Amino acid sequence: MSSTPSPSPHLAVFPGSFDPLTNGHVDIIERGCYIFDRVIVAVLINEAKTPLFTIKERVEIIREVFTGTPNVEVDTFDGLLVDYGRRKGADAIIRGLRAMSDFEYEFQMALMNRRLNHDIETVFLMPAEQYTYTSSRLIKEVFMLGGEVSGLVPDVVEDRLRNKQAILRDRLSGIRNANA
Ligand code: PNS
Repeated sequence: MSSTPSPSPHLAVFPGSFDPLTNGHVDIIERGCYIFDRVIVAVLINEAKTPLFTIKERVEIIREVFTGTPNVEVDTFDGLLVDYGRRKGADAIIRGLRAMSDFEYEFQMALMNRRLNHDIETVFLMPAEQYTYTSSRLIKEVFMLGGEVSGLVPDVVEDRLRNKQAILRDRLSGIRNANA
């Protein structure tokens, strides 16, 4: 009986800021795990932005949420995403598409990335409907203004948001003063 050679494992990179990780991200990562053998969640190191969570905190959060999921790895990167993907031997870049409003930016990015590296294909995945309006930016804003975010972020994120309340309050008063 002839045996078919096993296909080489497929690796995808899921890049983003993850400031913080939301349940929408978690949903996309889980969907990615159905399709790919390994998924690397790659947190962008962006010196130009002032994130709420440090890189270390964001990595810790994602690792905690995916403890026990051996095919999910968490890493950081800077520079071009396609260069990082090439170094890792990635076959694909995963991006989540929530609504048409995401499409234009994502389309531009996918085509630019393809121009830079033809060997890595961008794959768009749609989250479950209940997460189509969830974004890290909105989560921070709603939480900062006292709104309920449970169910939209992992529990660990909710706990850590509570620890950041003072920073969030300072930011809010900064915004109010600037608008006064
Ligand atoms: O979650 P985000 O902030 O929308 O993720 C954006 C991200 C990290 C995917 C994008 O900014 C990125 O890939 N940055 C790395 C620099 C790069 O490769 N830029 C060219 C993209 S066409």
